[in-house]
Amino acid sequence: MSISCDMLVFGGTGDLTLHKLLPALYHLHRDGRLHADVRILALARKKLDRDGYLALAERHCRAQVARSDFSPDTWQAFAQRLDYFAMDASQRGDYVRLAHHLGQADGRVRVYYLATAPDLFEPIAANLESAGLAGDDARIVLEKPIGHSLDSALEINESIGAVFPESRIYRIDHYLGKETVQNLMALRFANALFEPIWRSGHIDHVQITVAETLGVENRGGYYDNAGAMRDMLQNHLLQLLCLVAMEAPVRFDAKHIRGEKVKVLEALKPITGNDVLDKTVRGQYGAGRIGGHDVQAYYFEPNIDNDSDTETFVAVKAEIDNWRWAGVPFYLRTGKRMARKRSEIIITFKQVPHLLFSKGEVNRLVISLQPEESISLQLMAKAPGKGMQLEPVELDLNLAHAFSSTRRWEAYERLLLDVIEGDSTLFMRRDEVEAAWNWVDPILRGWHSYYRKPRPYPAGEDGPEQAHQFIERQGHRWWQ
Ligand code: BG6
Repeated sequence: MSISCDMLVFGGTGDLTLHKLLPALYHLHRDGRLHADVRILALARKKLDRDGYLALAERHCRAQVARSDFSPDTWQAFAQRLDYFAMDASQRGDYVRLAHHLGQADGRVRVYYLATAPDLFEPIAANLESAGLAGDDARIVLEKPIGHSLDSALEINESIGAVFPESRIYRIDHYLGKETVQNLMALRFANALFEPIWRSGHIDHVQITVAETLGVENRGGYYDNAGAMRDMLQNHLLQLLCLVAMEAPVRFDAKHIRGEKVKVLEALKPITGNDVLDKTVRGQYGAGRIGGHDVQAYYFEPNIDNDSDTETFVAVKAEIDNWRWAGVPFYLRTGKRMARKRSEIIITFKQVPHLLFSKGEVNRLVISLQPEESISLQLMAKAPGKGMQLEPVELDLNLAHAFSSTRRWEAYERLLLDVIEGDSTLFMRRDEVEAAWNWVDPILRGWHSYYRKPRPYPAGEDGPEQAHQFIERQGHRWWQ
């Protein structure tokens, strides 16, 4: 399906647009996936003319897109679709100018992509409506985080919902656009092998790790008010948890998949009051070394308070109070400036009921999202030679090799195309976002009362020592 549309990107000169959205649109264009009549209009306050914007966009696209994927001719053709309009998104009058610039929609789909801070979501939606730009063909895309607490998320959802019906609101979480994340659903629901043992009777515990080597880069102003809990755990890690834990949906569509995910979020056991001391660890990186280079401490990064208490690392023991998962801990952890970049889900199965051999290793399913997209199953096998010497071995499926003839799509490519085509399966529904905040809010309150100071860890290590002690107290270890 290929649909003609106008895509308007608020925050058109921001990092997200220049580093992710434009390169994704460039790839979609190059691969012939955009209707010839798709137009992209970047909106921002910067006083630039179209040529100035094209130069900025080209510089970033060249840097982001693989050298073999970039060609000046393709760029020239892509640039024909691209335009820039300088405006202040909080000024009502500017929307009248915008409406004039756009002309009649004439039945074309209009996508408003809000790659801005959440405090602009409300005024943008209201201003679009008052300028007559929020008609039936308009869709709105909201970047996470949706608010910074349950109350603020409710407020955003109310105000956007007053202008756009839920079916035309796309709350993006780019993790859902990653191939391996979708493969998790294929693994569970297209293979008869795993589902019967995918439950507390057979699974001992689950670990979800999203570790980054990057620091806060030039996003200090945003990050210092958010921290790892709001930036990563409330959305990306909880979405991964939902996909691991949800029941099989009746159908593979937006209504049923999102319905199952909400049930998981609603079954999360609350972590309240001083439970935060036992069930969570907050950390903040100090100076250290990454990739052979010295890096500075978080509180010396640009736009960060020198005595900031913001966490750049968080680990949580989540529990799901339902039949399938009672008694199975889900350990979630994420952090910046960790030893290496990796995102993975590790399902650890229970020990065999009766040990026949000396070595009692367990089976593990390791689903790696990045840097490798792979799924591997750790089994016990007999080592060659006399006697029954057992060793763990791996059954490996490297998805990039298995589908080597196909270029791997970036998450935003898939999701942008879904918005244009009106498929909201991989986007978060209002109640999902609210249920996630409902679980996160008491943890944030508990931290405020009992756990203000994050534990320090040197950049280049796997979080603070307390994160290891915390999981060891529960009788487990982080999988390396
Ligand atoms: C974003 C966060 O949502 O995800 C960033 O705001 C983080 O802080 C990024 O770096 C990680 O995404 P990925 O795809 O590189 O794992």
